[in-house]
Amino acid sequence: MSEPKIIVLDDEQALHMRAAEEIAHLSGEAICTHAEFTFCLSGGSTPAAVYELLGSRFLLSVDWNEVHFFWGDERCVPPDDPMSNYAMTQRTMLSKLPIKPSQVHRIRGEEPPAAAAQAYEVEIASHFGGAGFPHFDLTLMGLGDNSHTASLFPHNPALHETERVALAVEVDDPTQRHRVTLTAPVFNNAANVIFLVSGAGKAQAVWNILKGPHNPDEFPAQLIAPAKGELIWLLDRAAASKIS
Ligand code: 6PG
Repeated sequence: MSEPKIIVLDDEQALHMRAAEEIAHLSGEAICTHAEFTFCLSGGSTPAAVYELLGSRFLLSVDWNEVHFFWGDERCVPPDDPMSNYAMTQRTMLSKLPIKPSQVHRIRGEEPPAAAAQAYEVEIASHFGGAGFPHFDLTLMGLGDNSHTASLFPHNPALHETERVALAVEVDDPTQRHRVTLTAPVFNNAANVIFLVSGAGKAQAVWNILKGPHNPDEFPAQLIAPAKGELIWLLDRAAASKIS
């Protein structure tokens, strides 16, 4: 695995713009080389402003017809629930794009978690053509202040999964305990992984992952080290304040 590329932007606005530029660039590269862009989205609140940009100022910068949308994780709630990652993405971006429903591969949070995870694995296998881990062109990752990413939380058995593509997990987040998440081998099989992190509240978690002792059970985002893919950390100054 190559060393992570760390890019620090002056503020949140610059961070969002750079993230949208990177995504547009990677989509063009992927579509030119293999006629589609498989984009695995992050949830939470940080990426919302980037999705807004992609659905507005970058609307003409991406050949949306060739983009397939997936999610790195989902809360086990209905797709119109305010806590749903799909709902956030639909509101900020998908609803503004010229795309067909067949391009959107959401995790069915309204189903029982184990069934939703299995159905998501089937949908991924169907899109990527069979067994093994999918090869996303880009997975966008967030970072929790406890160093989790996707729904891979500290000390959770899911951290040690080596076979499954998606798992139902119960996590230490009182607002959304039940979730479905992709597993670390999936993220590590991506062509490009971008962590998008902003705010002083994440500075310690950023230090933990990039400079702290190697302890993935405590700092799960340390698991994300794509074997062949490129790993980029996009940070604003506040999030990078303990490493720079
Ligand atoms: C989720 C995300 C999760 C998120 C981090 C950061 O479902 O919540 O996938 O991993 O990226 O918790 O969340 P914020 O961007 O809201 O700080």
